[in-house]
Amino acid sequence: EKGGYPHFMLKEIFEQPKAVRDTVQIHLNKDGSVTFPDLGWTKECFENIDNILITACGTAYHAGLVAKHYIERFVKIPVSVEIASEYRYSKPLTTNRTLCIVVSQSGETIDTLEALKEAKKHGAKSLAVTNSIGSSIAREADHVVYTLAGPEIAVASTKAYTTQLVALLMLALYMAQLRGTISMDLIHKITDGLKDLPKQIEKVLKEKDHMAEVADRLIKAHDIFYLGRSIDYAIAMEGALKLKEVSYIHAESYAAGELKHGTLALITADTPVIAVATQDAVSSKMYSNIQEVKARGAEVLGIGYEDDKELGKYTTETVRIPRVDFFIAPILSVIPMQLLAYYTSVKRGNDVDKPRNLAKSVTVE
Ligand code: BG6
Repeated sequence: EKGGYPHFMLKEIFEQPKAVRDTVQIHLNKDGSVTFPDLGWTKECFENIDNILITACGTAYHAGLVAKHYIERFVKIPVSVEIASEYRYSKPLTTNRTLCIVVSQSGETIDTLEALKEAKKHGAKSLAVTNSIGSSIAREADHVVYTLAGPEIAVASTKAYTTQLVALLMLALYMAQLRGTISMDLIHKITDGLKDLPKQIEKVLKEKDHMAEVADRLIKAHDIFYLGRSIDYAIAMEGALKLKEVSYIHAESYAAGELKHGTLALITADTPVIAVATQDAVSSKMYSNIQEVKARGAEVLGIGYEDDKELGKYTTETVRIPRVDFFIAPILSVIPMQLLAYYTSVKRGNDVDKPRNLAKSVTVE
């Protein structure tokens, strides 16, 4: 059942090329435009939307944080991203001019389901992004977009997350296409990139043994920092969560520019740093932040493009991803972090597929 892999988590990491290919294909027209025929949306639908609320838990929440960048950039509608268990007990300003997007692999997470009901109570229109056909969340939402990740058994989410990013990116393109807030050239550029993505994922998966080596150096750490800016910050949050979930090593993700406003003193030779640097608009700032932590003795693993000549000057070591559009980069840069979390957990002798105190889907409050 594990298809020759020692654990489901590794199997599912390696299933990402297929999961991503399947999720891309159903939303692509032959002419390179994007389609979500089941939604039945028109340009006019957006005349009644002022803001978008994304709410979810755990890894799905992290996918929402990336989606905020996609939607605001392409669709030009403000997006707020809320942890479902916080949103549902807040006094939300959601109205009938809000589109609520919930993201849930299982479609059964009670906090997410209740957050969806709360948004609907305030009149919001709703859409669920889920991996689970006919799930409670799929039934509750007005519209559903399915990720085609296939069953995910390991508690720590991997292929569900990357397919959520794909589905949310394509959804953002689709909304922008309908509203006319994006050029067809840009849509084609990104959809061409999405078509190539499974191949690019295969390349990044070749970093498996490299990440296993790096894991050898992380197993003794007490704290590990994950840094990024812009979309890379959202990816750093997911990388840190993955490590915490399965290795039980404390990890903290930080917006790289924020370190100096608080926690730079925590960086020492004993705190390894993982630095994600794929967002060109802020790369020079990111290099400065890497130098700051390096100056405090930290070993830095940089994650960046294979043609980035600068990154290696400042880091202890790098892991490279192919040069892709920077909206697509997060779907690649998270993969070395998934592998790192996996190997760190296994090398520490943990039950990587069923980490302690975690359930695959939490249906209690
Ligand atoms: C947690 C799981 O309980 O729920 C996480 O352990 C998951 O792995 C989170 O990301 C949200 O789950 P779902 O099914 O709503 O995406």
